[in-house]
Order: sequence, then structure tokens, then C-alpha cells
Amino acid sequence: MMNKLKRGFASDNNAGIHPEVLKAIQNANIGHCIAYGDDIYTQNAIAKIKEHFGKNIDVYFMFNGTGSNVLGLKMLTESYNSIICAETAHINVDECGAPEKFTGCKLLSVPTKNGKLTIEKIKYHMHDFGFEHHSQPKVISIAQVTELGTVYTSNEIKEITEYAHENEIFVHMDGARICNAAASLDSSLREITMDVGIDVLSFGLTKNGAMNAEAVIFFNKKLSENFKYYRKQGMQLASKMRFMAVQFEALFTNNLWKKIAEHANKMAKVLAERIAEYPQIQITQEVEANGVFAIVPLEIIPKLQREFFFYMWDETNSEVRWMTSFDTTEEDIDIFIEQLKSLLK
Ligand SMILES: Cc1ncc(COP(=O)(O)O)c(C=O)c1O
Repeated sequence: MMNKLKRGFASDNNAGIHPEVLKAIQNANIGHCIAYGDDIYTQNAIAKIKEHFGKNIDVYFMFNGTGSNVLGLKMLTESYNSIICAETAHINVDECGAPEKFTGCKLLSVPTKNGKLTIEKIKYHMHDFGFEHHSQPKVISIAQVTELGTVYTSNEIKEITEYAHENEIFVHMDGARICNAAASLDSSLREITMDVGIDVLSFGLTKNGAMNAEAVIFFNKKLSENFKYYRKQGMQLASKMRFMAVQFEALFTNNLWKKIAEHANKMAKVLAERIAEYPQIQITQEVEANGVFAIVPLEIIPKLQREFFFYMWDETNSEVRWMTSFDTTEEDIDIFIEQLKSLLK
């Protein structure tokens, strides 16, 4: 039986709440204040986010990443549109068809080796504009960090947004791990989103020490008109919004978001370096953020999982995914490696 309290490498979602974030929630837990975001905590948090991105944005707090993706995409599309994404995209494989259900759009996916779209790959779907028998491409959705743990450079993003805008389509970013990407590139959040032409960002904090605190950020305010109605219809309007807001404020104070993400990324690098000492294991993706993907001898996986739970990524080739988080320690890695070593003997 897995010890549920033990830290493992299954997911950054399995980690708890960062102590500073928890403290912020506790500090906001006094008295009554108006619900549904009409409160000083929400105003302060939005002001803090605007200090980072500039005033010309619209921010809406959300419960989860799927809701952010679905409703962000909804604002950019009509039901006859299509959304181009990587085959591995969370919107394509991990959201139970919610993007299709709520936007009515067709998802047009492309196979990639590393989770990243390129213009060449996007072009495959860029045809039949104006032809009524064909869904009309309207959004390119990229994930930063990708689902394979890789990170787009700001130039790579810019190439995609320039191409998209030349063709009058939008670019949505699934930023469930945007903090890890910015830490990896040593960039600000703004430099890899708004400054390189992203139209709408699903801004995730939950994987970076928050508790159910995400946001949709519109970098073009024209696109957010009426979003408040869609958020309510989409069941993402929180009554006790202050407790989401203070998490944003805490993580934006003294760049806490970045320190946390840097730590998680560093732990993934350490884990990968230690794993590389074992020729029986093959790391399959560049380790650019907080995930390590590797092909591991099939027979040892269940035994290793018993001590340190983690997920299979691809059953067909015995590939696993190990994720690190804000609370991963070098000691966790030492114990994991010891276990691995004994199983590989
Ligand atoms: C790339 C990516 N996008 C979005 C999400 C958000 O998912 P959720 O709806 O579970 O918050 C996740 C969570 O695992 C993810 O990995």
C-alpha cells in the first residue's frame, strides 16, 4: 500500500500548499467580506498581477486549469471553428472532451516529438478557409511548459504568434506550468506571454504551490467582453474568491512564484543527473522544467511505484513520468535513487 503522506514524483498536483500561500489564506480568514470577487483582496491581487503585466489586461480567477482552458478558448471561437494543438495537449487528451463540448469546436491535433508545435506542423491544418464543409481554424493552443516537460523559447512563441496573427487567428497558451517555464528561461511571466503576442493565457498556480487558484488572463481586452457571463455559466465563479486572490498576491510578492518554480526545476535536473548514471534507463525528453520522462525496465516499475508512486506515461514503450514540486528535497531523490539502484541489480 502506498504511504499517502510520503512525497513522491507522481505529480506537482500531489504536493500540498506552499506555507506562505497557506499563511495568506489564514490571514484572509477574518470577518466577512462581499462574495464573488467584489472585495479588497481580489482588487489587491488583480492590482499586483497588473503591476507585472501592465494595466491593459483583464484577469479572471478560476478554480482549475481545465475550466481556464475551456472558457478561454470559448471566448476566441464560434462552434464552427477549430483549434490547432499538439497531439499530447492537455486539451486534447486530458479534459474528457470538455473543450469540444463547451466550445463546439473541432480540435485539430498534430503529432510532435517533444510536445511543441512549429509553424510547419501548424500549416498542415491551415487550409480550406471560407469553405463551408471544413471547420475554420481560429486558435492555435500551445502549452508552456509542454505536457512533455519541454519549454518554448520566447522566439519560438513569437514565430507562432506572428504567423497566427498574419493569418487572423489567435494564440492561446495553456500555462498550467507557466511559472516553471519562466524560471527555466529566467524570464518574467510577461516576457513569455504578452510580450511575444499571446492573446489569452490560462495562468496556472496550483502546480506551483497554490490551492485551486488559476486565472484566465486576456492580453487584448476586446476578447474578454462578456467573459464574466461565461465564467458564471461555466461554473467557475467562486463565491469565496478572496481565498483565491490572496494566493495570487502571496505568490506575486517578492517573486515567490519564481523561487518556488526554480526549486522544482532544479530538483528535476538533479533527479535527471542521478538517473543518467544508470545506463539501463533512458531519458527521453530534454529536462527543461520540472518533469523527467524516461524509459525504465518494465519489470522494476511496479516495485518502484510501490515506494514512490508515479505514473506510466506510455505503456507501449515502458516510459514513465517523474514530476518534482516545490517541496521535493534532495533527500527524496537520494532515497528514490537508492531504491532504483537496488531494483536494477
Ligand atoms: C498541461 C496542463 N494543462 C492544464 C492542466 C489543468 O488541469 P486541472 O483541470 O486538473 O486543473 C494540467 C493538469 O494536470 C496540465 O498538466
